[in-house]
Amino acid sequence: MSSHGTPIPMSSTPCGPLTGTAEVPGDKSISHRSLILGALSVGETVVTGLLEGDDVLDTAKAMRSFGAEVTRDEGGTWRIHGVGVGGFAEPDHVIDCGNSGTGVRLIMGAMASTPITATFTGDASLNGRPMARITDPIALFGAQSYGRRGGRLPMTIVGAASPRPVRYTTPMASAQVKSAVLLAGLNAPGETVVIEAEATRDHTERMLRGFGAEVRTEQTDEGHVITLTGQPELKPQTIVVPRDPSSAAFPVCAALIVPGSDVLVPNIGLNPTRAGLFTTLIEMGADLTFENMREEGGEPVADLRARFSPDMQGISVDPARAASMIDEYPILSVVAANATGTTEMRGVKELRVKESDRIDAMATGLRANGVAVTEGEDWWCVEGCGAGGVPGGAMAGSRLDHRIAMSFMVLGMAAQKAVSVDDGGPITTSFPIFEPLMAGLGADLRRDPV
Ligand code: S3P
Repeated sequence: MSSHGTPIPMSSTPCGPLTGTAEVPGDKSISHRSLILGALSVGETVVTGLLEGDDVLDTAKAMRSFGAEVTRDEGGTWRIHGVGVGGFAEPDHVIDCGNSGTGVRLIMGAMASTPITATFTGDASLNGRPMARITDPIALFGAQSYGRRGGRLPMTIVGAASPRPVRYTTPMASAQVKSAVLLAGLNAPGETVVIEAEATRDHTERMLRGFGAEVRTEQTDEGHVITLTGQPELKPQTIVVPRDPSSAAFPVCAALIVPGSDVLVPNIGLNPTRAGLFTTLIEMGADLTFENMREEGGEPVADLRARFSPDMQGISVDPARAASMIDEYPILSVVAANATGTTEMRGVKELRVKESDRIDAMATGLRANGVAVTEGEDWWCVEGCGAGGVPGGAMAGSRLDHRIAMSFMVLGMAAQKAVSVDDGGPITTSFPIFEPLMAGLGADLRRDPV
């Protein structure tokens, strides 16, 4: 169910080879940041390739509520007339961020150092997710927050009238937390510093530099240290959003497990802070190649080619790689179920607080479909059934989580019997063309009667 809709039960029936080209949509992380940074600049930012999924559309609406003019022309080009750093207006209604943790957390950061009040809410998934990870650091700037018990949404934030710059060590590996602090730092005088033990996705730093802010990144004994000079005038940009490696993961992994498949997924951003899944798949023995390697807009880009790989082996995934593939563990567990041997995934407790508890959601649905899974608080292991060995035949709960719904649809493509999900509606949050795209490659996805 999307934040506004009724459940859409779906099933995926074992299918023949997947072949052809998969043109996946724009990157979700970069799309949110394009809208938010565009709204904080003075003048017109022009964005093409924006992901038009529910999450990003909710962020576009939110930026309008804070006073930016955001329009889309018929050709799909988005224009954002920003209000400048510190220029956000006070919204006159509640900001509904739907399913999007990235949207709400980045926007809370972006408004925290401006003297306005805003109230945020979301769907049942988002309203269950922890927000103290944002309200703790923005309190250091001088912002106040009033939420439900446990720091949950709905929540009202009162931005700081005289923001102070902050030096903050993130308590967990989270690009959302890092980004919220940097965005709050934009309207504070002096230097705001974020220190992270492990580098997380660095789109905010790269894009802030592109918009004209001064951002330094260094590796020191303390960790990965990012320093932002406050109160810049952000200059509007022309942005071509690269395609999302996290969405590419679904056709790539489907091709690896469906017999006879050969799929090309062109123009995928391979920023090293995002590409951990592809390294992991190659370690497992996947026939995955990077063609036409090049650089676009300062980011490495390649065309991915994935072919059926019947001899993949389970591995212990390097926990140091977790941040660079944090959204890809659900679909990796589907590949692991089709490999031989055990795949161990450790150092992944953040998976428990995503759109759903992703370890529990995948473990429960995989077990129902005949795959053995063991788990602890911050780890899980999947026992591979070998190529074509997953029994399937059962329904999994998607728990308002797009990546869980898509992962089980891919499981069904290579299982012995169809796999279904109670609700495929959440898929539109990040991958609105998932069904026609996968059907175009040869998948057999159906919407089932409610
Ligand atoms: C994102 C960061 C990650 C990721 C999310 C997008 C971002 O969340 O799971 O889908 O765009 O910054 P965390 O920062 O909570 O790890």
